[in-house]
Amino acid sequence: MTKQMKRRQFLQLTAAALVAPQFLVACSHDNHDEKIHYEIHAFDYELNAGEAALELLNNRFTPGLAYNGQFPAPVIRAVQGKRLRIRFTNHLSQPSTIHWHGIRNDNAMDGVPWLTQKPVMPGETFVYDFVCPDAGTFWYHPHIHSIEQMSKGMVGALIVDEPEVPAFDQELILSLKDWRLDENGQFLPLSIPREAFRAGTLGTVNTVNGKVAPEYTLPAGSSVRVRLLNLDNTRAYNIAFKSDRQPIIANVIAIDGSPVAEPWPLDAHAIGAGQRLDVALLLPDEQEVKITVADRKGRFHVPLCHIHTAVADQQSKGLMPVLPANPVKKPDLENAEKMRFVFEWQGALSPTLANGELQHDFWLINRRGWEGMSEGNIPEPLAVMRRGKSYIVELKNNTPHQHPIHMHGEIFTVLDSDKKALRVHQADTVLLDKYETVHIALVADNPGRWMFHCHVIEHMKTGLMGYITIA
Ligand code: C2O
Ligand code: CU
Ligand code: CU
Repeated sequence: MTKQMKRRQFLQLTAAALVAPQFLVACSHDNHDEKIHYEIHAFDYELNAGEAALELLNNRFTPGLAYNGQFPAPVIRAVQGKRLRIRFTNHLSQPSTIHWHGIRNDNAMDGVPWLTQKPVMPGETFVYDFVCPDAGTFWYHPHIHSIEQMSKGMVGALIVDEPEVPAFDQELILSLKDWRLDENGQFLPLSIPREAFRAGTLGTVNTVNGKVAPEYTLPAGSSVRVRLLNLDNTRAYNIAFKSDRQPIIANVIAIDGSPVAEPWPLDAHAIGAGQRLDVALLLPDEQEVKITVADRKGRFHVPLCHIHTAVADQQSKGLMPVLPANPVKKPDLENAEKMRFVFEWQGALSPTLANGELQHDFWLINRRGWEGMSEGNIPEPLAVMRRGKSYIVELKNNTPHQHPIHMHGEIFTVLDSDKKALRVHQADTVLLDKYETVHIALVADNPGRWMFHCHVIEHMKTGLMGYITIA
């Protein structure tokens, strides 16, 4: 029996139960033979949204909403340049969709209700089927009822591997998310109007991969690709690594999935809601070194989780490979067209309407709050970009709050800021500090209608949202 046949038989056994989708991808991965698993079934992963009791606090169960009943949600793994198919079934009592954050997707697969697809109604199934053009750390989440669905657990990592996986010894995926829970694990009100109109409503329980301050143990002397994902609805983290012994080697290697041109030593790096950061960490040769992954606030390091070094592993090579660049077109800055978006608020008005309801156009982009959408009722775009043309876009924050501004469908270059020195890098989200102006640039090469919004979900829901048409 050939090796291939054995593998195929094994896949047939497992595919039916779909117990190990990671294994399926891993198989196509190590021999690059996609045919094998697409002959077997028409999708790589199955995601089922539904209610689930999540144990976030010891022995207390939180009535969450989850993919496949679990948190963290399944880690979806794809291979760059290859097709990824996910069969999504909605077992919630409300509509949902899945958006693949950071993927330069086909517009029809972007998961935005009404703009790119019909909402997936309770009981319905939708197959997302697309190619991932870029390798890196991405994620997925609904794009409808997002305050509730995302706060309660429907957020997960989507890792797109390079065709030749860079030779780190280890990988550590750290999904950061806060939850608004009381001490019994029950949800507190998810959004408080007074907060929604400021920085956003923060969680009360801080978790990494669904655990409070988890501990990880890895072999001494190994190199680790640490993938940090900010899957919170609101919070920004100022990521720093700190060792209890000698300084460690930790380099920033990718932002929002996009490799940086030249890695640099991580001092502290802020990631707003929705952003990701990849850090190459070289663990010291000594055992029992404790490294704290922290949220640095001024002089303080608030621990998120710890990494301990254990017995060295014969297999570890301690290599710190450089990530290959993604095929993102370089904008022509000389001939780029200029565009400007100003983010403001209706400062003089009360954040709530007379009837106590949230005011849906409190936050404004170019003096306009998001009107909402429904079937056959799509508002005008914020802007139209011509396909293939380069743009330099000024993003001006006229408010005393941070806004992580995200664009779907494209990866842009962050050029400069009027408030701080920044390294030119690619991203899909840029965290604007209060009253900060940033310039980004892109080649508008992906046709479609692409959402453009703040990733503080309450800000997005109360006006800081629109879309850009590329045609
Ligand atoms: Cu994670 Cu509309 O975005
Ligand atoms: Cu997105
Ligand atoms: Cu915002």
